[in-house]
Parts: sequence; C-alpha cells; structure tokens
Amino acid sequence: MEKTNIAIVGLGTVGTGVAKLLLDHGDRTSRHAGRTLWLKKAVVRDLDKPRDVDLPDGVATDSLDDVINDPEISVVAQLIGGLEPARSIMLRLLESGKDIVTANKALLAEHGPELFTRARELGRSIAFEASVAGGIPIIANVSQCLSANQIRSLEGILNGTSNFIVTQMDEKGAPYDVVVRKAQELGYAEADPTMDVDGTDAAQKLAILAHLAFGATVDWSDIPRMGIDGLDPDDLRYSRQLGYRIKLLALANLADDGLELSVAPTLVRIGTPLAEVRDAFNAIRVVGDAVGPVFYHGLGAGQMPTASAVVADLIDTAVGRTRLTFQTLEYFSIDNPPRAKLRD
Ligand code: NDP
Ligand code: HSE
Repeated sequence: MEKTNIAIVGLGTVGTGVAKLLLDHGDRTSRHAGRTLWLKKAVVRDLDKPRDVDLPDGVATDSLDDVINDPEISVVAQLIGGLEPARSIMLRLLESGKDIVTANKALLAEHGPELFTRARELGRSIAFEASVAGGIPIIANVSQCLSANQIRSLEGILNGTSNFIVTQMDEKGAPYDVVVRKAQELGYAEADPTMDVDGTDAAQKLAILAHLAFGATVDWSDIPRMGIDGLDPDDLRYSRQLGYRIKLLALANLADDGLELSVAPTLVRIGTPLAEVRDAFNAIRVVGDAVGPVFYHGLGAGQMPTASAVVADLIDTAVGRTRLTFQTLEYFSIDNPPRAKLRD
C-alpha cells in the first residue's frame, strides 16, 4: 500500500490527538484513503516537555527544517495557535511544497486571503475543517454538500468554551472563574481564553463560514459582537425562570439590504434544539433555499473531536479531495470578491 508521509507542527492538545489517531489507528486511514498516513515528524518547541503520546524514536524534532527539507513529507498539520509564528511557518511550509491542514481559525480569519492566495500561486492546498466547530463537518457541508443551495441563514453555537461555561454556571451554579479554569484543563479554551469568552473566537469562525456560505469577504473584527464574560449568574437564573437559556449565538442572515452578522448572548427558548446544546457541544442551523433547515450538533472543542476533523482533512489531502473546498475559496477569491454589506 502506498504511504503519505505526514508531519505535525505543534504538539499541544490538538496535535497530540492527531498523533494518537495516526499512530493508533493507521488502519482507519488506510481504509478510507487507500494509502497509509505515516507520521514522520512532529515539530515541538521543547523536546524535554512530557507529552501524552508515545512517539516512535526519531519522530520528535525541535527543528522545522527537518520538515521543510524532507521532500518525502508532503502534508503538514499546522497546529500552533495564534498569528505568529504560525503565519510565517505556514508560508515557509507552502513555499517548500507542502499541502497544509490547520485548525487555526484566528490565523485564517486574519490572514486567510494572503495564505490562500499564496497556496494557489504555489499549487498547494490548505484544508481547515477543524477551524470551525471542532468535530462537526460544517466546512465540508457548507462548501460542498449544500452547494446546490443559496444559503439564507446560519445560526449557531460556535464556541465550546463559552457554552461549557454557561452550562456549568446555569446547571451547577459553578463560579465563572472556576469553570474557565476547568475549560482550560479540559483543552477546550484558547491559549488566551479571553478570545473565547469575549466573542472573538465565535466571530472569527462566523467570518470563515460567511465566506464559504455567502461569498462574503468579512473582516471578523467588523462583526458586532458581545461575549459571555459580562454575564451574571442571576441573568442565567432569571432567564431560566422565564423559560429561556442564554446561549452565545453567532448569526448570519441574508436580508434584502445586506448580510446581517452578529455574535451575542441570546435568549433561546428551553426545549428548542439550540437551547439543549450543553457543555462543549456546538450546533449550527443552516437554512438553504432548496434543502430547507439542516441542523448539525457535535463536540466543538476538545482533543479527539478536533483531531477527528484534522485527520479527515489529512486523508482528503493525501488523496486530493481537499481541492473541492479549496476551489470554493478560489472561486470567491478570483476577480472582485463579493463584499459583505454589514447591516447595523
Ligand atoms: P495548545 O496551546 O494546546 O497547543 C499549541 C502547541 O503549539 C503547543 O504545544 C506549543 O508548544 C506549540 N508551539 C507553539 N509555538 C511553537 C513553535 N514555534 N514550534 C513548535 N511548536 C510550537 O493549543 P491547541 O492544541 O488547543 O490548539 C491548536 C490550534 O487548534 C489553535 O489554533 C486552536 O485555535 C485550534 N483549535 C483548538 C481546539 C481545541 O479544542 N483545543 C478546537 C479547534 C481548533 P508548547 O507546548 O511548548 O507551548
Ligand atoms: N477554544 C475553541 C472553543 C476551540 O472553545 O470553541 C474550538 O475551536
């Protein structure tokens, strides 16, 4: 059976999950890809830091050059968070001929046009299923499975950490600071959890979905947003007494006068599907003009759900299927991209 050599850059929560899946379940990848995905290198900052995965001898390295200069490595999972050095590393990897898989939505929301343009120029691909809603295959669904539709609206819970916090505060009366720490321990939160609780992470994900669903070029920082960081336990209690839960909802609605986008804590009636999404689960309701409403639900954060999406992208990239999503982006980035007219 043919083999595709893979490298991981960044062996944190998600990178470790990806390494585990590749090392423990190579048979699954060969079943779906018709080829074996082989973890050849994992680039870490500190070789002495204990890891929650047993890497075979010679796999761990602290030198990115070991990946850049290895022509046998064709696909790289770039799993460092934040903007730098993630951006420079992605550019170096593309320029050395590697296809990329990433979960880094902050980077794509900020530098997506530069990275995708460079990838296109170099004939390389960037797959990013894990960047929105963790284990839910929402990128593939919006960009491929629903491509016969004009999507009319998207509404969803896109940040697992915020949903975990409001669920634990609401159901267990847990104090805010304690739950934030728990979300960090469980690997849900960003390195800087401010991005989770102030609505930034959800806005970055919404900007990516808006591009795929509506062809809108949106600067995530233009999206009106409010997080859950200002919520008081009494807000949750009074809402529940009135028959509602508070959820951090990301909304995109194609109205007559433009695309409405927002992220805000929202009252959702108890018993409706979005109100029942608990802990680190995410959910997205998409309405297409042909298909009608479709509802997606699954874990939106955490090691193995996110690794599931990354490894699926690695498989797709190894067999050339990533091109489909990538073509959607190419389509939108050629000639005069449609711009979102954000309604106030
Ligand atoms: P972590 O902080 O757990 O892991 C990031 C890793 O990158 C760390 O191990 C860090 O090393 C390493 N790193 C940083 N700089 C370098 C460098 N220059 N060279 C090599 N390694 C480096 O983050 P996550 O795994 O949680 O997240 C990774 C990405 O996935 C982020 O973009 C995040 O937004 C995204 N994501 C995360 C999800 C989750 O549930 N956690 C879900 C979906 C997406 P060190 O250990 O030394 O600090
Ligand atoms: N910090 C993010 C969240 C990780 O809590 O949703 C998944 O993107």
